[in-house]
Amino acid sequence: MPVLLSITRIPESRLSEAVRENSEFGTVFSDHMLVADYEDGKWGESQIVPYGPMPLPPSISALHYGQSLFEGFKAHRTIDERVALFRPRDNHARLNRSAARLAMPEVPASLFLDGVAELIQLDREWVPHREGGALYVRPLYFAMDEALFVKPAHHYRLVVITCPVGPYFGQPIRLLADERYVRAFPGGTGDIKPAGNYAAALLAGRLAQERGFHNVLWLDAIEHRFVEECGVMNILFVIDRVAITPPLTGTILPGVTRDSVLMLLNDLGIDVKERLITIDEVFQAHAAGELKEAFGVGTAATVAPIECIRYRDREIQLPVGRPGSIGSKVRALLQAIQTGREVDKHGWLMSL
Ligand SMILES: Cc1ncc(COP(=O)(O)O)c(C=O)c1O
Repeated sequence: MPVLLSITRIPESRLSEAVRENSEFGTVFSDHMLVADYEDGKWGESQIVPYGPMPLPPSISALHYGQSLFEGFKAHRTIDERVALFRPRDNHARLNRSAARLAMPEVPASLFLDGVAELIQLDREWVPHREGGALYVRPLYFAMDEALFVKPAHHYRLVVITCPVGPYFGQPIRLLADERYVRAFPGGTGDIKPAGNYAAALLAGRLAQERGFHNVLWLDAIEHRFVEECGVMNILFVIDRVAITPPLTGTILPGVTRDSVLMLLNDLGIDVKERLITIDEVFQAHAAGELKEAFGVGTAATVAPIECIRYRDREIQLPVGRPGSIGSKVRALLQAIQTGREVDKHGWLMSL
């Protein structure tokens, strides 16, 4: 089905070099946004319009009951002067898995991918040139019914905004495993991206920051001992030359970066195991000198080294920034593929 798309351009771009290269993550938005509405059982024409406020009635159900979800991925400049999206089809597929779980209609691939491609083409000048820079793409999809019924809505809106970003985390991260809070539980929504997951994690994150940590090391909701994720990233440990990451059993977000990193580790000839790992095993491996490194993986930071983990009254420090570490190798390879410096043999880039 061809997607109808209308474009209303901004009269004068807000872009400057300083804005493009130096903005703090997620604070400055590109000139245009994509908007499409679903009503009466079908998607209407999608529109590209100037970025700006959208009037919304206070009664819309997304605001009351959280029938709202989002995605995140990036467009990079390549060395041969293309702009390429990284695995947007995977984010589209995950968006539709989130939508299905929240009883929302599917977003057609053509609407999503053609709309995003058109939007980024139009705001192409916003893609940063600096090393590690990218244009972050943020699709947002929410219920628009003006009614206080607790039931799936009839009217929905998809919006896609973009913003120039640099490398998200510069420094290595410090994590606190706090057993009082859980991020996800069996049968819940931990493996998708509804807005509510993030609201529910804010307090634990703030408490960790007040104690000098960057974020939370999330443990499972039943036994509070299986490691699941760190902050808003998936996690890997390198124990005795094997890269270990928890399996996708329904309480972990299937990160696109996680999937990419696992394939690249394989390409690099590093053994990878997706298996359960307890916080005690992490501490024991550290005590035995077998825990060589740990890192978080996600779109924003790509690969972020973990410097410290605290659990109850124990704390371990991990070596970071060692040249030749597995984390730094896989990060460099991923970034080289994203920027066209390395062959994209898995077919991950969608060039515009
Ligand atoms: C909870 C959570 N885990 C992991 C990730 C990493 O996923 P991705 O690599 O697709 O960005 C994210 C970011 O989307 C996240 O919010």
